Amino acid sequence: MSKVIWVILKSKQQIIEGVSNLLSLETEVCRLFGIEMPIIQAGMAGGPATAELAAAVSEAGGLGTLGAAYFEPDALRKAIAEVKTATQKPFGVNIFASKEKDDFSRLEEVQQALAPFRKELKINEPDISSSADWSRQQFDICLEMAVPVISTAFGLLAEEQMQAAKLAGIKVIAMVTTVEEAELAEQAGVDAIVAQGSEAGGHRGTFSLAQHPDGAQVGTMSLVPQIVDAVNIPVIAAGGIADGRGLAAALALGAAAVQIGTRFLLAEEAGTHPAYQQRLAESNEDETTITKSFSGRPARAVKNRFIKEFEEAGTRALPFPSHNTVTRDIRTAAAAQNNSEFMSLWAGQSLRLVNKKMPAAQMMQEIMGSARAILME
Ligand SMILES: Cc1cc2nc3c(=O)[nH]c(=O)nc-3n(C[C@H](O)[C@H](O)[C@H](O)COP(=O)(O)O)c2cc1C
Repeated sequence: MSKVIWVILKSKQQIIEGVSNLLSLETEVCRLFGIEMPIIQAGMAGGPATAELAAAVSEAGGLGTLGAAYFEPDALRKAIAEVKTATQKPFGVNIFASKEKDDFSRLEEVQQALAPFRKELKINEPDISSSADWSRQQFDICLEMAVPVISTAFGLLAEEQMQAAKLAGIKVIAMVTTVEEAELAEQAGVDAIVAQGSEAGGHRGTFSLAQHPDGAQVGTMSLVPQIVDAVNIPVIAAGGIADGRGLAAALALGAAAVQIGTRFLLAEEAGTHPAYQQRLAESNEDETTITKSFSGRPARAVKNRFIKEFEEAGTRALPFPSHNTVTRDIRTAAAAQNNSEFMSLWAGQSLRLVNKKMPAAQMMQEIMGSARAILME
C-alpha cells in the first residue's frame, strides 16, 4: 500500500472514530473511569446522594457518587455495599479533605444568635464540645472496600493516601475553584479535576479560606478553559450545569465531562427532603446566595429566613466544621418539622432548569440527547 493511500485510510478511520465519539460523546473521562456518558453526579453530603442515587446514575452510564462526608464508618460500609449490590458499574465516594480544625472559642456568642431559631422550633440547646471527624476512617474504608473512584472537596488527599489509592488502582478526583488549586491537584497526582465555578450549589470547594475568606468565586465559563489550559489531566466542569446546553458548552470549553449536583436533587432516587425539593422547583436564578451561616464555610443556598435572620443578627459564624456542628440540631429539627425556612437548601444558580422530578436515568438521557443534537448541528 502506498504511503498516500495509507495516510488517507488512516485519516478516514480517525474521522469515523471522531464522529462516532462525537455521537456517543465518549470523552477522555469516560475512558478513564470506564463510563459511557460524560456525566458525574456530585457526591452531595447530608442526605441527597444516597446509595440508590449513585447506583441509578452509574447503572444509566454515568459516574454515580456517594455523598459520604458526614457518614459514620458503619454507615459508609453499608452504603458502599448497597451500591455494589445494585450495580456492577464504576462509582465514586466523595469525602472532605479539609485541613480546618475545630474552634469553639466564640461558642456562647453564636449560641445566643441561634437561640431564637431553637425557641421557634421548640428544641433545647445541645451540649457541644467537638466535631466528629471521620475522614481518615472514611478513606481507609474506601481503600479496604476497593471503591473504583474517590473524590475530594476542600483539599487534597495526604501524600500517603494518594500513594495508597494509586497502589490499589483507585482513581482520584479533586474539586478545585482556581487555577492555582488545579495545579496543586495535578502535582499531587490526581487523575482528574472538577473545576467548580461560582454558580455551583453547596460549599465552595476552595482549599484555603485564609487566602479566600468567602471562597474563590470565579464563574464556570471563565474557570473551565483557564484550568484546561493550565493542566494536562482531564477537567470536569461543575457549577450551573443542568441540561444538554450546559453539557455541550462545557465540552466546547475543553472540559471532558460535567459534574452535576442541583439537578440530581430532584432525581426520584435522591434522598432530598420533600420540602427542599419543593423550594428548588419554585425558586429562580436570583434566589440563591453564598452564606457561611449554616456551616462556617461559604456555600450557595436558596435564601431563607435562617440565612437572613442569622446574618442580620450580626454575629460571625464559627469556622467550619465547628459552626456546622453547632447548627446541626436546628437543621435536623427543621427537617423533621418540614420547615424549609431553617434548613440548608444548597442549590446552584440554574434553578429554573431544575423543576421536574424524574428518574435519574431519564434526566441523563435528556441531557445527553440534547447535547448530542446541539453538537451535531
Ligand atoms: C446539595 C448539595 C450538596 C453538595 N455536597 C457536596 C459534597 O459533599 N462534596 C462535594 O465535593 N461537593 C458537594 N457539592 C457541590 C458539587 O460537587 C458541585 O460542585 C455542584 O453541585 C455543581 O453545581 P450545580 O449544583 O449547579 O450542579 C454539593 C452540591 C449540592 C447542590
